[in-house]
Amino acid sequence: MKILGISASRRKWGNTEILIRHVLQGAAEEGAEIRFLRLTDFDIIQCRECLGCLFKDTDCLIKDDFPSMLDEIRMSDCVVLGSPVHKLFAAGSLQTLLPRFFRQDYTGELSGRPGVALAVGGMPGWEGWALPQVVSFFLSLGMPLVDRFIGYGQGPGEIFYDTGACTRALEAGKALARGERRYIGDPGLCPVCHCDLVFSGADGRPHCMLCDLPGQWAADTAEFTPLPGAVARWEEGGTRLHFEHLILPSGQRFKDRKREIKEKVDWLKRLQESDE
Ligand SMILES: Cc1cc2nc3c(=O)[nH]c(=O)nc-3n(C[C@H](O)[C@H](O)[C@H](O)COP(=O)(O)O)c2cc1C
Repeated sequence: MKILGISASRRKWGNTEILIRHVLQGAAEEGAEIRFLRLTDFDIIQCRECLGCLFKDTDCLIKDDFPSMLDEIRMSDCVVLGSPVHKLFAAGSLQTLLPRFFRQDYTGELSGRPGVALAVGGMPGWEGWALPQVVSFFLSLGMPLVDRFIGYGQGPGEIFYDTGACTRALEAGKALARGERRYIGDPGLCPVCHCDLVFSGADGRPHCMLCDLPGQWAADTAEFTPLPGAVARWEEGGTRLHFEHLILPSGQRFKDRKREIKEKVDWLKRLQESDE
């Protein structure tokens, strides 16, 4: 069993790295083979939106270190991914990485490999959307989450004093190494992502923002329950709807509009005297 830990922090032996290494340590104690990588050691640039991976059915055409990172993940049975919280969101390196997995084939290839999602913030109450962003890596690739949680520490190494998070990380690693595939963490509001991003939708119903899942509040427990038959964006029906009915037809629509768009851009360029 090979377990790969990836940290999105620039700090070597910073809090995210230490928390991920706790997961790896737990896994090693159960006999797993462990490997740790820093995302910032890879030269991975922002998606340039050529959409070749979608409309030309090719691997990503950008020549950088993304294929090496992909190979590292391909060679692993489980992935532990973590990010520091930066201004309420995940670190830039992770936000750059996530869209590079746009190609549908990656989901087919990596789905089923379980993982653990982590974030580290300086203090409770300032976690924002960092952990849901890490969680989205797993859900968008069809990789089951075994646990997801946040640890707290400000200065590098202070995460050691969040003993709850460190213990939970060790336990999560042990569970991964023992072959756990089910979610073992605390429930969270949404039963799919286990995050708490439920908002009131235009239809007046509660929706999980991450999973695009409409639901209802149980009268007695105030528990969020998905509506019967509702499908999360990550599930088979959700991804098919997204690609076949929304994204793929957008290719022909754009082609039909291309000439007209060029005329509109030229008009704006003339007004602003720009030739860029
Ligand atoms: C630029 C910057 C922005 C930050 N923003 C937040 C924040 O919004 N919420 C929070 O809880 N912590 C925030 N922090 C604190 C870090 O999340 C915290 O120090 C964390 O332990 C860093 O993890 P690392 O050592 O793995 O890099 C921020 C730190 C930096 C440097």
